[in-house]
Amino acid sequence: MKVLYVCAELYPFLKTGGLADVSAGLPPALQALGCDVRLLMPSFPAILQQATLTRPVALLPDGPLPWGNAPALPAANLVLATLPGLAMPLYLLQAPALYARPGSPYLGPNGKDWDDNALRFAALGWAAATLGQGLDPHWVPDVIHGHDWHAGLAPAYCRAFADAGFDTPATLFTIHNMAYQGLFPKAVFSQLGLPAACFEVRGVEFYGQLSFMKAALRYADRITTVSPTYAREIMTASQGCGLEGLLHERAGVLSGILNGVDYQVWSPATDALLPSPYDVDTLPVKARAKQALQASFGLAPRAQALVFGVVSRLTEQKGLHLLPLLLAELVQRGGQLALLGQGDAALEQAFVDAAIRYPGQVGVRLGYDEVTAHAVLAGADVILVPSAFEPCGLTQLYGLRYGTLPLVRRVGGLVDTVVDCTLENLDDGTATGFVFDELSTDGLLSAVRRAFALFRRPDQWAAVQRRGMGLRFDWPTAAQHYLAICQSLRLDAKSQARVFFGKD
Ligand code: ADP
Ligand code: GLC
Repeated sequence: MKVLYVCAELYPFLKTGGLADVSAGLPPALQALGCDVRLLMPSFPAILQQATLTRPVALLPDGPLPWGNAPALPAANLVLATLPGLAMPLYLLQAPALYARPGSPYLGPNGKDWDDNALRFAALGWAAATLGQGLDPHWVPDVIHGHDWHAGLAPAYCRAFADAGFDTPATLFTIHNMAYQGLFPKAVFSQLGLPAACFEVRGVEFYGQLSFMKAALRYADRITTVSPTYAREIMTASQGCGLEGLLHERAGVLSGILNGVDYQVWSPATDALLPSPYDVDTLPVKARAKQALQASFGLAPRAQALVFGVVSRLTEQKGLHLLPLLLAELVQRGGQLALLGQGDAALEQAFVDAAIRYPGQVGVRLGYDEVTAHAVLAGADVILVPSAFEPCGLTQLYGLRYGTLPLVRRVGGLVDTVVDCTLENLDDGTATGFVFDELSTDGLLSAVRRAFALFRRPDQWAAVQRRGMGLRFDWPTAAQHYLAICQSLRLDAKSQARVFFGKD
């Protein structure tokens, strides 16, 4: 089974969020199950700098197609490459005019989307589909597995080839976040090399615009998202971002597969970034991580303080706008906050102001930093994830592993991974964290107060920590589910043995 994994982020080379962690975790797990997996990514500088190029593959085709012209792209070619620590080959899409821009894969230095993002990511989908048409005669994928809107056009191009009578790989598309859809003005459509008939409501058109996400949801053979609860939520108006109708229509091919954790990176017993490693049998050693965190965030060195941690993008999704509003009470109850994040300017400022207002009790680090992320996840007592919506969420899973109790909102993957400390759940030993319902200060405060209450009962607190640390959300399990889907897709595929490029 040859699987082409198409994505825009890959830990540790290029990361803006959990997508990068998934791209590092899932492909090796599929490989361990016997899949022949290769990655396809744009040659962003952060990737290119670390890559060793092994073989040129081909120029991306730009000639006429059975249904029109190929996408109007600047010169682009595919090369095969390796990356340190990556146990599989990687196709790099080289197109300096599109990708030779340092920093975020999506945003310019002004924090806004690049103007030509439609072309930049259409090229990625086009490269995937042409690999599916034998562009590299040595390796033709059976399944193209795309991730998020960045890879959204791959299924649309594959469908166009199929409709023109060519054999195509099966397509699987994974939604990591419905809130980012890849919406572009209609005018760009004519440059993308899709059949003209695609621009309609039953195609890629979305309220007069072009939607890469819709293209994927319309044309992919199978759709997954990153938790079972989010798979249900996105079929509703509140979470479907306008695509709930289409998702409902495609419910028969949509499912949720919970993300895994790379426990080689995220385990307190082997974490080289911690001052003193610990595990479930040496839990008291976690106190040293707490001391180190308090010291580095300028927090008063109080062992009895209940330290809340945040490691997050600061966007509306994460519900963190509620937090500044209840810091007075949190501090008054003897709590502390260590926050690492970046994003929304107003939210960043609100946390900077809070750190000034509560010196020694609120510590804030703006920016993106892996080392500090580990320090917070290990050193805090509670990791806060009060999201408005959360497709899966990884930080609560890291918190569980580090004995740092997650405090989460009852939404998306957070529901599927955290069990509330109700009396019943404490009593029967299933509790792993704190869960609240209402996206409001009162809702969040109710869970914060319960965290204080449990913290005053150290034996119960430790029992909950141990329960969480013993849980596993591993990639081998998730990969089994993906493999089962890939296998069912291959069984479904009709082989017409005719591809557009390479062999005839
Ligand atoms: P999302 O993908 O929506 O941002 P996830 O919980 O799935 O949320 O994944 C977030 C990932 O990004 C985690 O690996 C987390 O540790 C990391 N992360 C988020 N913000 C920062 C930051 N400011 N510095 C370092 N790592 C961060
Ligand atoms: C997205 C989601 C997050 C998920 C991650 C990886 O960024 O916001 O919930 O964990 O993708 O799938």
